[in-house]
Amino acid sequence: MQDGQLVSFYIGLMSGTSLDAVDSVLVDFAGKHPRLLASHSHPFPEALQKTLLSIQHPHEATLQLVAELDRQMGLLLAEAALALIAKSGANIIDIRAIGSHGQTLCHHPDGPSPFTLQIGDPNLIAEKTAITTVADLRRRDMAAGGQGAPLVPLFHHAVFRSASTNRCILNLGGIANITVLPANEADPIRGFDTGPGNGLLDTWIKHSLGEALDKNGAWGASGIVDQRLLQQFERDPYFSQPPPKSTGREYFSTNWLGQHIQRFGETLPAENVQRTLAELTTRTIAQAISDHAQSTSELYVCGGGSHNNLLMDGLAANMPDCKITTTADLGIPADWVEAVAFAWLARRTLHGQAGNAPAVTGASQEVILGGIYPGAIDREHRNSKEN
Ligand SMILES: Nc1ncnc2c1ncn2[C@@H]1O[C@H](COP(=O)(O)OP(=O)(O)O)[C@@H](O)[C@H]1O
Ligand SMILES: [Mg+2]
Repeated sequence: MQDGQLVSFYIGLMSGTSLDAVDSVLVDFAGKHPRLLASHSHPFPEALQKTLLSIQHPHEATLQLVAELDRQMGLLLAEAALALIAKSGANIIDIRAIGSHGQTLCHHPDGPSPFTLQIGDPNLIAEKTAITTVADLRRRDMAAGGQGAPLVPLFHHAVFRSASTNRCILNLGGIANITVLPANEADPIRGFDTGPGNGLLDTWIKHSLGEALDKNGAWGASGIVDQRLLQQFERDPYFSQPPPKSTGREYFSTNWLGQHIQRFGETLPAENVQRTLAELTTRTIAQAISDHAQSTSELYVCGGGSHNNLLMDGLAANMPDCKITTTADLGIPADWVEAVAFAWLARRTLHGQAGNAPAVTGASQEVILGGIYPGAIDREHRNSKEN
């Protein structure tokens, strides 16, 4: 970096409800469109992943365990950032900040005492990398009366909106969320969690075959949809609840699935349950778009579920009039959109700009998100001219 040159590189760290890996990206925001410079998928140590997956409800974890996990996750996030930096060959002085989502341990946005908790101590990330870290991005929106989720729609709006077509962005992570991007800029951005994405598919194949995921949806595709089970799933009140709404792994959980299977009473071939769960994911997404974004003509998918052919085919079958593709067609590969969004949100925070969309989260106002944990580089190298 030359003296006085603008620093426009940011790191985004994302670990979603699937607990598959920590996604880390290095992004350059100097141009009009974010430029993905490097990406890295950092594996979870098996024991940590297992412990995190075993916590389905807050009452299942002791305070001691939460505090220890916060530290372990912080170290893992720091490692993910350092591995990315090594892979990219970037100089840390050129990196302005890290935006870290953290690992959601619980998300209860409704009720008299709403709360959301993302762990992964940002002090450790800032200390180990020497880079200023912006984290805890959801709770400020919740403090302003919002759901604290989804936070990616403002980024989708800034980067993926078209002035000529009505688009939707669909993130198929453990939970599925959509962002509605009307061509008319005067129309508000909307977005919400539609319900399960891949989470229950992962749960069911793990339970039935001991595998972490249904590669390309092949196992589910060997089964058939059980319409009665599908109808029973679809009666869950979450699907008809109007937005703003958000949900998590502690709602669409192993218990949720187990209770439905038990209530159904009959034993079904396991692949039929998988197929029916995939149909639930795609039908509830199609229904949400038909109810809340009827004029959508293009749907861009991101997240790991974009690799599941059963889900992609199911979306096409349920939305025959919509062009369906992935965000790679808009310049950001499907696997990295969420991590890029958190790098972007960190930049908004450092620039004193709001990161939430009140029309999406239900917050009473726009707010600057997150806490800033200064890194040693800021003390040693920065001056006031920086970007
Ligand atoms: N090749 C694939 N075939 C089927 N499913 C896949 C494939 N690759 C990823 N996935 C699904 O995507 C999930 C990870 O997606 P991701 O967007 O990282 O979700 P999250 O944000 O919840 O971590 C995996 O758990 C798996 O269900
Ligand atoms: Mg993931």
